[in-house]
Amino acid sequence: MSRKKLIAGNWKLNMKQSETKEFLTSLIGSLNSSNLKEVEVMVCPTFTSLNSAADTIKTNKANIILGAQDLSQYSSGAYTGEISAAMLQEIGVEYVLVGHSERREYFKEDDSVINAKLKAALSAGLKVVLCCGESESTRDSGKTDSWVSSQIESALQGIESSGLATKIAVAYEPIWAIGTGKVCESSEANRVIKVIRDKLNQLIGNTEANAMRILYGGSVKAKNAEEILGQSDIDGCLVGGASIIKEEITAIIAAAAKLKVSL
Ligand code: PGA
Repeated sequence: MSRKKLIAGNWKLNMKQSETKEFLTSLIGSLNSSNLKEVEVMVCPTFTSLNSAADTIKTNKANIILGAQDLSQYSSGAYTGEISAAMLQEIGVEYVLVGHSERREYFKEDDSVINAKLKAALSAGLKVVLCCGESESTRDSGKTDSWVSSQIESALQGIESSGLATKIAVAYEPIWAIGTGKVCESSEANRVIKVIRDKLNQLIGNTEANAMRILYGGSVKAKNAEEILGQSDIDGCLVGGASIIKEEITAIIAAAAKLKVSL
């Protein structure tokens, strides 16, 4: 079974609507359409730019997936400032990031909130990029494997495993490698990703675990993409900083298109 590579751009708190339109139009123009057949490409703008991105993708008939960076765990009601899964879907959002370390750290999202957000997304029909990863001190104390395994286990608590591989992609993002320029050694990223796949195997069974894509994220750039994507178990990348630099993300997508993942 082969897993099609996914390159997802997490734009974070960048790009107003006008900038989104301009950037995305230019990115679409520079993407090689045959690359887009080999690789799934996703952009995750901030909430207020989702509409602008959806319009730009539609106008250009581009084969690009729209993702959101967050969603509410609630479907409606008195939750000031929140945005529900159904509201995202109405705009044309297909995926949502859940469990990103910046949400965990700066917005105090714990395992139970992440589990609730995952359930809210899936029950509304949204797909999820589920992020996990250890801090530098967890790594230094030799607890990386148990840490990421437990993040995955808590996130998937109470979630029906059937068909899950088509609804979730996992992203392994060591926190110390995010936005720091310190990329995790590709062989080590591959090793941790195998640990995650073993855990998935235990939790949701072999078929779903083997079909589920597991991405790497953390200081992915044009210059290291090929090396990372060439690893046996890395099925794509979640790209932050480099995803809003056209030359960088274009080169990362091209690197993914050159490689095929097979089991
Ligand atoms: P980075 O961010 O590529 O800037 O390190 C990755 C992420 O936060 O998803």
